[in-house]
Amino acid sequence: MDAENPLEKALARALALPCSSDCPPRLAEALQYSVCPGGARVRPKLVLAVAQACGGADMNAALSGASAIEMLHCASLVHDDLPCFDAAAYRRGKPSVHVAFGERLAVLAGDTLIVEAFNVVAAHPDMIRIIAQAVGAPHGICAGQAWECEDRMDLVRYQRAKTGALFAACTMLGAVAAGRDAAPWRQCGMLIGEAFQVADDLRDVAGVSGEIGKPTGQDAANGLPNMVSTLGFDGAMHHLENLLARVTQSTPDCPGREALNAQIVAVSRALVPKQLHRGAA
Ligand code: IPE
Ligand code: IPE
Ligand code: MG
Ligand code: MG
Repeated sequence: MDAENPLEKALARALALPCSSDCPPRLAEALQYSVCPGGARVRPKLVLAVAQACGGADMNAALSGASAIEMLHCASLVHDDLPCFDAAAYRRGKPSVHVAFGERLAVLAGDTLIVEAFNVVAAHPDMIRIIAQAVGAPHGICAGQAWECEDRMDLVRYQRAKTGALFAACTMLGAVAAGRDAAPWRQCGMLIGEAFQVADDLRDVAGVSGEIGKPTGQDAANGLPNMVSTLGFDGAMHHLENLLARVTQSTPDCPGREALNAQIVAVSRALVPKQLHRGAA
């Protein structure tokens, strides 16, 4: 981790109070472990990239939004790995939080990160509303994970809620930090999130565990549908390419639109497992 990186610094600031000396030490340790070192930090980078593309952004507000999003994402991973969800023993190349600290502290670390994420954006009511939509119900992460508890689910609806909604919040928060209307930025974020989840499904089936830092074959092991089991490899790849083409068409007009689109495409391409790359893709 680069401690001088503005995003990492903002995350460290956000964790300073909850992890201070008054906090039960094991909870403080579990919080730090859940957030640092991070994964690819794709979501907070998207917040900052949109803020930058819009121009004239309040970068402190953008960093607050970005930190809140990453804390919520980390919370969702900690809870998602629990034995009552995906029962995944490692994440980001190290033991999952419940393996390292026990289930009770994993539940509490996730809960704490969710609450503290809202604290980070407390000065920005517009951001609070956008974030609440992305993590709650009926369309946020909680709703998405809850579709796994139903007898039937619509795969697209499930993926939009569990993953797309938080990405939609990323692009919307970036726009808000630049003083723009958030609504036009929802669609491109949602499409990025959907594409991201399809790429994750491809990696779940065809990725290499040592490279992705988490177990593969999780969805089949847990009896969960994913885009590859539903559409096959070619179908999932085609769906991914289709989503990505729609992303770049749907980014709203802004001064840095071209660079933003190029960045989105580059990040998205890197997500597809190497063995699935096509010459022309
Ligand atoms: C994993 O997200 C969960 C999904 C929604 C697919 P990431 O792949 O962004 O995880 P990290 O943050 O890089 O570890
Ligand atoms: C995770 O989806 C979505 C969350 C809300 C955490 P997955 O279950 O496919 O993500 P990984 O593969 O565990 O990272
Ligand atoms: Mg899951
Ligand atoms: Mg999982």
